[in-house]
Amino acid sequence: MELAISMENDLNLKAILQYQIDLGVDEAITANTFNRFKETKLQGQKKPERILSPKPIQSKQRNNSLLREQKSSSVDNTANEAKLVAEKLVSEVQTLDDLKNSIEAFNGCDYRETAINLVFADGNPKAKIMVIGEAPGQDEDKQGLPFVGRSGQLLDKIFSEAGLSRKSNDSSTAIYITNAVNWRPPGNKTPPPEVIDMFRPFIQKHIELVNPKILVLTGNSSCNAIINRGGITGLRGKWIKGERYFIMPIVHPAFLLRNPKVKRDTWNDILKIKQKLRELS
Ligand code: URA
Repeated sequence: MELAISMENDLNLKAILQYQIDLGVDEAITANTFNRFKETKLQGQKKPERILSPKPIQSKQRNNSLLREQKSSSVDNTANEAKLVAEKLVSEVQTLDDLKNSIEAFNGCDYRETAINLVFADGNPKAKIMVIGEAPGQDEDKQGLPFVGRSGQLLDKIFSEAGLSRKSNDSSTAIYITNAVNWRPPGNKTPPPEVIDMFRPFIQKHIELVNPKILVLTGNSSCNAIINRGGITGLRGKWIKGERYFIMPIVHPAFLLRNPKVKRDTWNDILKIKQKLRELS
């Protein structure tokens, strides 16, 4: 929730802050996003330090030429141009570390400027099950890990009931988790199709490198990124045969938090995943 206040307002600022908290304001954002990194220096003032350390920019040497190319193209890079840059970066990727570095270096998406950390992945990369979410939220952005907030905790709980965990060292009980978009969208907005599209080369490479037997897509954005269609209510619970893996769409855990009655359906979907895992091993 957003609320604009005027600093000239003569009300006690602490009271205004409390008023906003009571209204449900949980973030200092406005309707429009600002790129604070591109702001000119405040006159006569030092730019305030960020409380949380900004993401490290690991510009690997072999990405330097691409970065120069990115810089020379204007800030108004179209989504298509950004996707071409993403494809070019991905073409040099051979390992998960390479992939992480290339996403870190990719500057085609403004989310990178406002996010704190890149959220790459968590879990066991040798897992037979790979779970794909939408994009990081506030908690994920702070910790640099996917699905660690409330919805992530619910996801962990559901999988753990089925004996599956991102902490497992055993590939047959492990899961590996990532997102279709690796930077947090400001204000936790749903990433629009052009953003999903520009990150698609990265997520496709991610799947290729992990090479799972089962891909679990959580919610519409994840389905749009991987199977090019949404409509999770119709898609969930039905297997889709991919070229090298089976795909199971499930509803997003954030939806389950708001609609607990749907948990039963999701549990049935997870049982199907368990069964498929048995058949495949
Ligand atoms: N929602 C997602 O889709 N991904 C996360 O990592 C967190 C919340």
